[in-house]
Amino acid sequence: MGAAPHMENLPRTVELVRAANGAAELVYVDQRRLPRELVFARTSDWREVVGAVKSLAVRGAPAIGAAGAAAVALWAQERARAGGKAGESYLAALSEACALVAGARPTAVNLAWGVGRMERAACDCAAAGEGPDAIAGALFSAVKELEAADEAANRAIGAHGAALLPRGARVLTHCNAGSLATVFYGTALGVVYAAAAKGGIERVYADETRPVGQGARLTCWELARAGVSVTLLCDNMAASLMARGEVDAVVVGADRIAANGDTANKVGTYGVAVLAAHHGIPFYVAAPESTIDRSLPDGSRIPIEERDPAEVAEPLPGVEVWNPAFDVTPAALVTRIITERGTFAPSELVY
Ligand code: MRU
Repeated sequence: MGAAPHMENLPRTVELVRAANGAAELVYVDQRRLPRELVFARTSDWREVVGAVKSLAVRGAPAIGAAGAAAVALWAQERARAGGKAGESYLAALSEACALVAGARPTAVNLAWGVGRMERAACDCAAAGEGPDAIAGALFSAVKELEAADEAANRAIGAHGAALLPRGARVLTHCNAGSLATVFYGTALGVVYAAAAKGGIERVYADETRPVGQGARLTCWELARAGVSVTLLCDNMAASLMARGEVDAVVVGADRIAANGDTANKVGTYGVAVLAAHHGIPFYVAAPESTIDRSLPDGSRIPIEERDPAEVAEPLPGVEVWNPAFDVTPAALVTRIITERGTFAPSELVY
């Protein structure tokens, strides 16, 4: 039924480090290059981090939350090098930079959440009379705390979620909600890793995840590297697999969960949820608390990113292309939501 997963074979996806000269730098896996090669990029330029998020070099809700927080810390470092005080113009520039970072991608609430945490921390320091140097140092520490908290949350999600799966489970997932989508360990795949550690996973079925192929390129890469049995299928094959009785549970991640449990995740997730309901298969959403947006009563107001048509197809004269990156699965199709605090029916989210 498979051995314990080799988590030591997986890289940390995003990590703020101190270079030999003491400068803060963000090291991240350039996910555009996977599965062909594992390449780490390194930058101290916050604008480059924004570019990495937009281009999907760094992607996945918790990972972009951590990268966004790191971008604000790098902004603070750049500003500290320029000298001056943390006065009005500093705070105005901070708010402008934060809006730019948070606006890199609209759907995953984790990005605005990570940036908002750093902005508040910087404002608190400034209000306490700290200067730009001290603020840069405080933000570095705050990012390190956020990184550690992300991994801890994912491990807790994994433990709670694993308890929901039968022994020898065959799990279908869509997109990549794995270690690569977080600082480390993953949410939906965190559940798989925790279950596999108890010998409880027979196989993961990974939807290819058109158009960008996060399932084919990333989920398959990380599961194979961790030693978890994985089978790749095209998105339009999930129904046949379920009809053959080969799926015990669907586990997916989330980019934003509204207060009623409506869940935005990679486009195609909604279809998988409909299929699961039709076949009587439990449909689980695994996500940290930072993905829950209680300010939205339901999913109708979750902003859905529309991306470059070139991701879908070569331009064809006279043909329009629609490329929404996410869809919203209605709460009625969600069996349970798994967070670091436990597992909940969608109706139990508001507490
Ligand atoms: O466009 P992406 O690759 O950033 O989309 C990612 C997803 O939809 C993930 O399933 C989601 O962010 C959860 S990641 C733990």
